[in-house]
Amino acid sequence: MAGVLDKFKLTGKVAWITGASYGLGLAYAKAYAEAGAKVVFNDINQELVDRGLAEYKKLGIKVYGAVCDVTNEKQVEKFVSDVEKKVGPIDILVNNAGIIKRIPMTEMTLNEWNAVINVDLTGPFICSKAVIPSMIKRGGGKIINACSMMSELGRETVSAYAAAKGGLKMLTKNICSEYGQYNIQCNAIGPGYIATPQTAPLREIQADGSLHPFDRFIRSKTPAQRWGETEDLMGLAVFLASPASDFINGQVVYIDGGILAYIGQDPSNLDASKFAQHKDKETLKKTAAKKTAAVKKTKAAEKKPAAKSTEKKSASKKSAKK
Ligand SMILES: NC(=O)c1ccc[n+]([C@@H]2O[C@H](COP(=O)([O-])OP(=O)(O)OC[C@H]3O[C@@H](n4cnc5c(N)ncnc54)[C@H](O)[C@@H]3O)[C@@H](O)[C@H]2O)c1
Repeated sequence: MAGVLDKFKLTGKVAWITGASYGLGLAYAKAYAEAGAKVVFNDINQELVDRGLAEYKKLGIKVYGAVCDVTNEKQVEKFVSDVEKKVGPIDILVNNAGIIKRIPMTEMTLNEWNAVINVDLTGPFICSKAVIPSMIKRGGGKIINACSMMSELGRETVSAYAAAKGGLKMLTKNICSEYGQYNIQCNAIGPGYIATPQTAPLREIQADGSLHPFDRFIRSKTPAQRWGETEDLMGLAVFLASPASDFINGQVVYIDGGILAYIGQDPSNLDASKFAQHKDKETLKKTAAKKTAAVKKTKAAEKKPAAKSTEKKSASKKSAKK
């Protein structure tokens, strides 16, 4: 009899992760390959696809990768048909490709708005539409959408992103509603703030030993008082792609260390020394270099007045003797 852990295996399944040349997409692909799936991915141009292919080769993962813009229905249909011929029908789709534009809403052009909505919301519609008929024919499938905390929350400068990710939450529920009867499960992952090389500068300890203001803001909002790591997302990604989640449908699971459940604390209560240890090696190196420079500077500054005060002391001792 198969044990419970066997239900998490993806052996022989074909998993398509959109926009997976690097970033979270590549991490999902790595986890799926480890769970036994055959991985296929697309990206927006050949340079990125080649970068992805080289990265997978380094990791020892056999993949199929090709150029395909998720906003272009014809390209998506061709990609899916090529994958079916070369690898096999798609069992798992991760709508990972996404973009963000940080522009105040009143300064955002309609083209900029449309670009975000097209990739983040229309892309998942086009890609899901392209795989659902074959999933129905074969008795089921899994669709996992890349939502965000912005599926629930607003923030300055991200109107299009929040609108798209909020819409993606509802598309998730609707795919579940329409196609759940065909054993298709559509769920979403909503990552919180994840520590990646791109966000490392936001986590650097400042020259005076304090937290970066943005780091302080995030930690004060997070009950876990830390950023997420890419690995924090992988268990859920495999679970939602596997038979272990066959009765879970239309859900968005947030991996945010508790941010969405918490009103946040007064950031001035945070003790910087508690967070001086970062897992990120680059950040550690930079922080150490900054600290050494700061200590040297303080010592040099201390020496000068100390010499003066010693002179003063000895001068006053002399005058006292006199
Ligand atoms: N990184 C985070 O902390 C975080 C948090 C919440 C949600 N997300 C979501 O997770 C997903 C992945 O995030 P990431 O940080 O790895 O993003 P990323 O920007 O590092 O990677 C996105 C990928 O999508 C590709 N892409 C963009 N437009 C495309 C298009 N039209 N067609 C095909 N591919 C396209 C990019 O080239 C890139 O490979 C995104 O949808 C993002 O919104 C990320």
